[in-house]
Amino acid sequence: MAGVIDWEGLQAAAVEAMRHAYAPYSHFPVGVAGLVDDGRVVTGCNVENAAYGVALCAECGMVSQLHITGGGRLSAVVCVGGDGALLMPCGRCRQLLWENGGPGCRLLTPEGDLPMSEVLPQAFGAGDLDAAAARPPA
Ligand code: THU
Repeated sequence: MAGVIDWEGLQAAAVEAMRHAYAPYSHFPVGVAGLVDDGRVVTGCNVENAAYGVALCAECGMVSQLHITGGGRLSAVVCVGGDGALLMPCGRCRQLLWENGGPGCRLLTPEGDLPMSEVLPQAFGAGDLDAAAARPPA
């Protein structure tokens, strides 16, 4: 899959999504686009709130759209800021990408496209819940 990713097209979709951001407090619009394993492209923008801490990152919207439009797994993701340049997702959103794309999902970073296993090393995931459930309590 990695060889056929249209990174330019994904970045253009992320820029288009960024233009819909609602960021009147930070003035820091963000857009994100993800390629789904069935070929769909899902997008999101950040949506802020007067209660600052309630802001929704762009990745939240994208993951919601992923599930609303049929689910599947993210294969590749591009996140951009207001200048259209690549942006690294925040820590919480790396966890969202991990849940919905797994270690093999590719992220376009300023250092090239990297697997999520390098973007979120030693990630916590569903396997940790299963492993803990299988062990006796301390
Ligand atoms: N933001 C995102 O949308 N995604 C990220 O991964 C990093 C941060 C948003 C949240 C807030 O609306 C603005 O960027 C400034 O932090």
